[in-house]
Amino acid sequence: MPTTVLIGAQWGDEGKGKVTDHLSETADVVVRYQGGNNAGHTIVVGDERFALTLIPSGVLYPQVTPVIGNGCVIDPSVLVKEMAELDSRGIDPSRLRISGNAHLIMPYHRKLDAVMERFLGQQQIGTTKRGIGPAYMDKYSRHGIRVQDLFDPKIFRQKLEIALKDKNKILTKVYNSLPIDPEPIAEEYLGYADKLRDHVTDTSLLLFEAHQAGKQIIFEGAQGTLLDIDHGTYPFVTSSNPTAGGATTGSGIGPKAIDRVIGVAKAYITRVGTGPFPTELHDETGARMVELGGEFGTVTGRRRRCGWLDLVALRYATRVNGLTELALTKLDILSSFDTLKVAVAYDSLGERFDEFPRQQRILYNCNPVYEELPGWNTDISGVRLYDDLPGEARQYIEYVEKAIGIPVTTIGVGPARDATVERTA
Ligand code: GDP
Ligand code: IMO
Ligand code: MG
Repeated sequence: MPTTVLIGAQWGDEGKGKVTDHLSETADVVVRYQGGNNAGHTIVVGDERFALTLIPSGVLYPQVTPVIGNGCVIDPSVLVKEMAELDSRGIDPSRLRISGNAHLIMPYHRKLDAVMERFLGQQQIGTTKRGIGPAYMDKYSRHGIRVQDLFDPKIFRQKLEIALKDKNKILTKVYNSLPIDPEPIAEEYLGYADKLRDHVTDTSLLLFEAHQAGKQIIFEGAQGTLLDIDHGTYPFVTSSNPTAGGATTGSGIGPKAIDRVIGVAKAYITRVGTGPFPTELHDETGARMVELGGEFGTVTGRRRRCGWLDLVALRYATRVNGLTELALTKLDILSSFDTLKVAVAYDSLGERFDEFPRQQRILYNCNPVYEELPGWNTDISGVRLYDDLPGEARQYIEYVEKAIGIPVTTIGVGPARDATVERTA
């Protein structure tokens, strides 16, 4: 049984939720390994729409054990709400397993996220304001509070007091904000302990044993390659490693356990928040993509910036993740365009770049070099077999495959669970 890592190959919102759900039909364990409730993964089943932020998309299948790994940051107020909501919709969240080593997002992280962004003014990242960056800052400065601390009230209060001594100075003296009182936080957070206790376990051991027993494990990345703290368009990134390597550190499984690495990419590209975006369209075509693709954020409702498929960035994502295959989503959204453009290189500061530039200044000045491909002008949302796709759609897919050197094995033709074309390489 293969162990699969599934990652976003662009700037997030590629359709990871839908593809994970699709693969989960035969899975035993589905794991989130980084990020927190900055993610918004949408799954459409019949008339129902689920927007999951923390709980892995595999939860919709009763045989799946969903796992939140140590690399995640957890806002417990959001987690208990998400569990209750699933429960109310007939999906049993009792199978959820959570690493005690995952860090907690605290109310002061959310507050700091907001004031830090405000202070950046024009340079702001456009974060989701969920406290993600400040929570990871505390993790790496070793001032973080972890899920396991919820079960020892004395230690929890001690850690909270130490954290707030520091944070309140920063909030009041640096950001001119009001200080935060520890007591209401302690009361609120210790109240979550009973709700989470039965879910917390050694998830690294759980995964090791599942792997040994030949179970099928899927790692569901959040965000995307270009938002990775190391490999993305820094500083306009998130504070974790969505790339495939993050699956091992963020879950405690060895790299040799991984057999497949699936990249998920839209047939075009989108970005929420600020930062460089070489193929961004500011014109009518971009506006059409927003409208046809329903490109508004699942978490914050923000309008997503849209552009033509960027093969330079996709080749980069293929490399840094070691992708073995690609899932190309939202192909149906391109159905009404007469001509499709794909970026095959960039021009920047008088030079041509075939590889994704690692220097911010070069990236900011990139103008895409486009190739044009014919559109298909036919509704493909009902197609389920590769050979039933119009020739131009197949040409587009095969062009992408050739450019990135790996097969496109799954094609998305609609948001619904079954709106998928499978293709064996
Ligand atoms: P994620 O964060 O990567 O899981 O992606 P999001 O859920 O934030 O955004 C993807 C959006 O596209 C969601 O509204 C999905 O329902 C939708 N979607 C996913 N795949 C397809 C597809 O192949 N076609 C269409 N039309 N919509 C899709
Ligand atoms: P999913 O998993 C798209 C973006 C934010 C911002 C930057 C940093 O649904 O693909 P953060 O709150 O993480 O500190 O914000 O990252 N961002 C996402 N964009 N999809 C996401 O998740 C994102 N999670 C964060 O818009 O630009
Ligand atoms: Mg999303």
